[in-house]
Amino acid sequence: MSDLNYLLENNLRWSERTKQADPEFFKRLAAQQKPEILWIGCSDSRVPANQIIDLLPGDVFVHRNVANLVVHTDFNCLSVMQFAIEVLKVKHVIVCGHYGCGGVDAAIAGAELGLIDNWLENIRNVASKYADQLVGLDDHAKSAKMCELNVIEQAQNVRRTGIYKDAIKRGQDVTIHSWIYSLKNGRITDLGNPDSPYNKR
Ligand code: CO
Repeated sequence: MSDLNYLLENNLRWSERTKQADPEFFKRLAAQQKPEILWIGCSDSRVPANQIIDLLPGDVFVHRNVANLVVHTDFNCLSVMQFAIEVLKVKHVIVCGHYGCGGVDAAIAGAELGLIDNWLENIRNVASKYADQLVGLDDHAKSAKMCELNVIEQAQNVRRTGIYKDAIKRGQDVTIHSWIYSLKNGRITDLGNPDSPYNKR
């Protein structure tokens, strides 16, 4: 007897509810996916892509890893990007980090956590690169600043890939966004557009 029956119950209710609201929903999605957005976010359970931007299944192609990193030797992330940009032809790539990211905090604290330290080393490289912007900050401010810098750097990493450069050469319409999410109020700040009226920490 599975103790996850409550999840299967949830699924049953959700699928019935969704079908009632839109009888063609599953038929339409089963035929094809055509999302316009690729989301590269953190694995953190508190930052679920579709839910925080209030979109339905079929609307967002998603890649998540610890601390929303775009690493040029990570064939998983690169494969997702290639498929999303070249095949699905998404119009937007959103790199979305979040304040209070455990991966970022572990990296700047120099914690020793085993295998994941190799992954977090990518964040330490970002901290080294922008060390001058972190001088004099207390732990809280340093964490917040690093979460922001990490998003900006990972969005830059997207722009540095051949996948993105080739898309631009082809004249494809694809825009990279750097967003950060607040766990405290559920709001997203657009770091690439500081004047956005939606920005509110
Ligand atoms: Co995180």
